[in-house]
Amino acid sequence: MGPSADISAAPEWRALADHCDEMAPVHLRELFAADPGRADRFTASVGDLVVDWSRQRVTDHTMELLVALARRAEVVERMEAMVGGAPVNASEGRAALHTALRAEPGPAASERSGGGAASTDGIGTPNEDRAAERSDRGAVAGQMQRADAPARRPAPHRSDWGTAAGQVQRELERMAALADGIRSGRRLGATGRPITAVVNLGIGGSDLGPRMACEALVAYRHDRVRCRFASNVGGSDLAAALSGLDPAETLFIVASKSLATVETLANAAAARAWIAAALGEGAVADHFAAATAAPEAATAFGIDPAAVLRLWDWVGGRFSLCSAAAAVLMIAIGPERFSEMLAGFRAVDEHLTGRPVADNLPMLLGLVAVWNRNFWGFGTRAVLPYSSRLRLLPAYLQQLDMESNGKQTRLDGSPAGCQTGPVVWGGAGTDGQHSFHQWLHQGADIAPADFIVFAEPDDDLAGRPGLDRSSLDRHHDLLAANCLAQAEALAFGSAAEGGGIGDDSDGARDDSDDGNGDRSNPHGRCAGNRPSTVIMAPRLTPSVLGQIAALYEHQVAVQGAVWGINSFDQPGVELGKRLAGPIAAELSSPDPPALGHDAATNALIRRYRRLRNRPC
Ligand code: F6P
Repeated sequence: MGPSADISAAPEWRALADHCDEMAPVHLRELFAADPGRADRFTASVGDLVVDWSRQRVTDHTMELLVALARRAEVVERMEAMVGGAPVNASEGRAALHTALRAEPGPAASERSGGGAASTDGIGTPNEDRAAERSDRGAVAGQMQRADAPARRPAPHRSDWGTAAGQVQRELERMAALADGIRSGRRLGATGRPITAVVNLGIGGSDLGPRMACEALVAYRHDRVRCRFASNVGGSDLAAALSGLDPAETLFIVASKSLATVETLANAAAARAWIAAALGEGAVADHFAAATAAPEAATAFGIDPAAVLRLWDWVGGRFSLCSAAAAVLMIAIGPERFSEMLAGFRAVDEHLTGRPVADNLPMLLGLVAVWNRNFWGFGTRAVLPYSSRLRLLPAYLQQLDMESNGKQTRLDGSPAGCQTGPVVWGGAGTDGQHSFHQWLHQGADIAPADFIVFAEPDDDLAGRPGLDRSSLDRHHDLLAANCLAQAEALAFGSAAEGGGIGDDSDGARDDSDDGNGDRSNPHGRCAGNRPSTVIMAPRLTPSVLGQIAALYEHQVAVQGAVWGINSFDQPGVELGKRLAGPIAAELSSPDPPALGHDAATNALIRRYRRLRNRPC
């Protein structure tokens, strides 16, 4: 059938709809009672991640039907086209080759070129030291590349795959040179002092991924170099990022694929003024770098071309965590740890391309997401990392999923014909338990939840006076226990207490008791039957973070493939951007503007102007 047909008209879709009708009266308690092997059978692993989706409302038959749906939608072919570099982002005529960003490295660019052509351009050092930097580049490259590694590449769909891989390696080397220069103290500011603070100026995909990863991998961060982020326009974000920083020791990275994003440009202009006021205009080149697919615009801004890291139009912002958009992350954790993160991504990429659908975790999880969205009608999906360090993961996944699949037009321009991407939201446990989990357990709507939990504790408390290893362990065991308890409570409801699971003799589907036969307390009743998936890993490392991110990236692409939509463009965000320009002018014009909007917008513009004492 492929992407040119409405999947909801396919017989496989009908079969799933009928199957869902049959499943509707069945409680998860009954599924577990009837099938003791269920927890094992619906658990699989990829890399270090063990994923248990046995608490989803699925049976073996459901999974078979979903695999048949994937076949009908040609999901495998769509994934092959994506990793092979086909222009799967059809509306923009571009590939979505984020997997090339973490492909198994071949020989380092500097080695391929005999050390001459693949210069890191002195990006890691200030102007006067750049010649010396050039002679160091072999060492930098060695950190990023394994020259003896066999090249494992997907079959190229287009001849430019090899070009992309070569470009990626070169930019990784240049990123490593910048990161190394700063981490070693060799990259100096205009006054000759080393850079000790890096501020990333970017928004959306040029902010959320690196910001999330910097926080997640705080244990691996350089102890001298501070990394900060400013994304929002309005001043507060930048003010917070600059607080306490010394301009003479600060480097800004303007991260923007387009270098046309007004929020980022406004923050970059303010940062530039801040540097120039303290150190003079001439200092700008030593205190700015960029990551962009528009290098000419970076140069026009005053950034030294040698400090411009390249992005490419075949990397979507929300898929750019492995690219130069995450230069700040590489500076924070170092090239070696960054490489480990790439290897984590790669492990999941290889799983995606190397296994049949029925044995392919990202595909199966993407299909379960379709099952939840389209057949059960669940409109949202909660992401609940039981790790404070991962507290920004829901925001990162929100962009990844909602900007990718929040659209209703199929690739051929026809309407989707079915529901598409859900709302993605969430927050770190256990904090959420004292907030929105009430809704998760007893609210009128059901949100399938993803729990993420690690076996090993973070070391944040280690070494503090009075806190030994066992107190760390106690903390962590409590955190993990709460995660498991939440998944249990959602699935089995009040019956989870007192061994009521599987005891359908007292009415597994009967919501009139609390699962323990207490019909006197309707308020305390938790009906259960609320689906969730648990992802468990040994520890939050760079590699594991990469695995988690890739697992979600591919799930998102799989869902988009089933729905036949383009998961790689974001046309819906453009209209608001176009409207904001004229309104900004109308808000700030010295004279009363002639307003031609709707009555509500006109009134708000006038009200704003009155409050700012501007003539109306
Ligand atoms: O407005 C949406 C968006 O285009 C995202 O897709 C992107 O991640 C973000 O803006 C930032 O874009 P840029 O990196 O081009 O500044």
